[in-house]
Amino acid sequence: MPKPAPFSTPPDQLLPLEAQAEHGELLALIANADEAYHGLDAPVMSDAEYDVLRRRAEAIESLFPHLKTSGLAAKVGAKAQEKFAKVRHRVPMLSLANSFSREDVADFEARIRSFLGLGAAEPVILTAEPKIDGLSLALRYERGRLVQAATRGDGEEGEDVTINAGTIADIPHQLRGDVPAVFEVRGEAYLGHADFAALNARQREAGEKEFANPRNAAAGSLRQLDASITASRPLRFFAYAWGDVERLPADTQFGIVQTFKGWALPVNPLMKRCAGVDEVLAHYAAIEAMRAGLGYDIDGVVYKVDRIDWQQRLGFVGRAPRWATAHKFPAEKATTLVEAIDIQVGRTGALTPVAKLRPVTVGGVVVSNATLHNADEIARLDVRIGDTVVVQRAGDVIPQVVDVVMAQRLAGAAPYAFPHVCPCDLRTPVAKETTAAGIESVVRRCTGEFACPYQRIEHLKHFCSRRAFDIEGLGDKQIAFFFEKGLIKEPGDIFTLAARDAMPGNLQRIQNYEGFGEVSTRNLFAAIEARRTIQLERLIFALGIRHIGETTAKMLARNYGDWASFDAAAMRVAAGDVEAAAEMDAIDQIGETVIDAIRSYFSESHNRAIVDRLASELTVIDAEQAAKDSPVAGKTVVFTGSLEKMTRDEAKAMAERLGAKVAGSVSKKTDLVVAGPGAGSKLKAASELGIEVVDEDGWLTLVGG
Ligand code: IVH
Repeated sequence: MPKPAPFSTPPDQLLPLEAQAEHGELLALIANADEAYHGLDAPVMSDAEYDVLRRRAEAIESLFPHLKTSGLAAKVGAKAQEKFAKVRHRVPMLSLANSFSREDVADFEARIRSFLGLGAAEPVILTAEPKIDGLSLALRYERGRLVQAATRGDGEEGEDVTINAGTIADIPHQLRGDVPAVFEVRGEAYLGHADFAALNARQREAGEKEFANPRNAAAGSLRQLDASITASRPLRFFAYAWGDVERLPADTQFGIVQTFKGWALPVNPLMKRCAGVDEVLAHYAAIEAMRAGLGYDIDGVVYKVDRIDWQQRLGFVGRAPRWATAHKFPAEKATTLVEAIDIQVGRTGALTPVAKLRPVTVGGVVVSNATLHNADEIARLDVRIGDTVVVQRAGDVIPQVVDVVMAQRLAGAAPYAFPHVCPCDLRTPVAKETTAAGIESVVRRCTGEFACPYQRIEHLKHFCSRRAFDIEGLGDKQIAFFFEKGLIKEPGDIFTLAARDAMPGNLQRIQNYEGFGEVSTRNLFAAIEARRTIQLERLIFALGIRHIGETTAKMLARNYGDWASFDAAAMRVAAGDVEAAAEMDAIDQIGETVIDAIRSYFSESHNRAIVDRLASELTVIDAEQAAKDSPVAGKTVVFTGSLEKMTRDEAKAMAERLGAKVAGSVSKKTDLVVAGPGAGSKLKAASELGIEVVDEDGWLTLVGG
């Protein structure tokens, strides 16, 4: 008679993987008991024992709701989770800057030297390792045990894939040896070539869609709501980085990754420590020569500064570390036929010609569209419909047409005439722009702005995109659909969609449209509702103001703090308020171009109305003031004279990291002047204005450096 297992750990102390295993065991025991009791009429345990099992399974399900779907209440067969929970990364997951040539790599090293102020004789040790073409994962280990796995997502927030990652044989559930109490390992999950081919063969036989490449297959396999599918796909893993850690086990990149190996984590065997540019380039050539035989996809070689203290000093610019670069392999090329040239209208009205190609495989991916950039590029290449062209694809970059095979041009092929009107129904005239400096831009723009349906759709797509509002279930296809049906014409409409849908007398309920249904409509409304509360920086970015990318949006958000202040400043700038513009200009990384863009956006009454309707639907979360706790947060600092312990770039980056603004000149807004030997007029101005002055050591003491 099977006895209940000694399930002794209190349910709320179980780790996710333990909970999953135990839950499975409990269900098996319960099912067995049910079968014996009802089917065979031969009970295998007492009612009291049976109740203990059920209560424990229920307790686990209430603590780990994702197990519920396959649990006690589920009917026949295990149903998958409905969606992944979100995980906020304690340390953002960033990307890498790219290098494409020897010169780029030499510049990378030169920038490091200059930033750190290294003498010519000082070697810069770099590690060089393959750039794995998979998807990045963050694995959180506590006391050596795997407690959480998350995808990268937008870098700030990913998806909880703990159960799925737990099925990957390469990922240990328990690390070996002396592991810090908290250690988040980062690395790449990928699928090997042979496993990819076998998976696609199985997909084909089952009449399912095949994957375009191993990376898509790996991503599709990991992001399965039903973890048993992940378990059936032989994903692999290489560890190469870390996130939130209690302490580091070594003081070099190489040392830490070697320690990983000792902890039972798989690391790439081709990682090498190199002394400078020549050595990394030699290793790059060696890896490139081995590429075809590795058995998994790589798309370049990553170089990282080996010394961790230098990495910390170098820090980040935008979303990428200054201390690393990805040296990409040359783009792959193929030739094919141009069947047509389409014109796409972007969010800002820019017309982009796109070559419609006879599908061709370039580096393992089927390509049927390639950008031709702009009218000048078409003229330069002299691309004509019917031409045979060379297409190139480099990593994630959109494929492009790089050459025309003139020998294969058909007699009578006419030169391509770039349209003078927008392809939208309005047929609005297209204009070339001239910059403030009088230079004519190569870009042709539709002048229709919000009257142009293409621009409106692109605006909405941008609004919902991952780094903006990131509304699940409201992808490009759905936006185009809702726009066409007249249900969403501008961002604010998204947040009134559910209420309008539920209005009495509404005959066109969304759930009745093909492809929606009750559940997906409910999920969509919930996803929209979840985004009604939004961070200020995302909102500013989502507005789609020209020249305001994510970094600029973040700078604006951090500076103005809340929506009302930003909005008021933007309105003052739009109204021609010189002081408001000067204040904006003082923000790091913000200059005339951005200010002009804000001015023209907010002085357009149509935009104003759209923004107001949107804002009235939202709750905006104030911006995180960078490094609130630091003594210089929010202060304006000026460095002057020479610095001895760090370069000017480094000092500036350090101050910004601590939430200070670095200004070039002293004014009454300056809070602190850091003066080194040789300081002159700025120091004088500071003492005249009664501003606090410290020397370099004083600065370092202040910031705890
Ligand atoms: S280091 C702070 N090393 O490439 C940067 N990344 O383009 C930490 N990747 O998101 C990343 N192989 O998914 C690093 N050996 C390697 C890598 C690697 C692949 C991926 C990673 C990252 C992306 C950036």
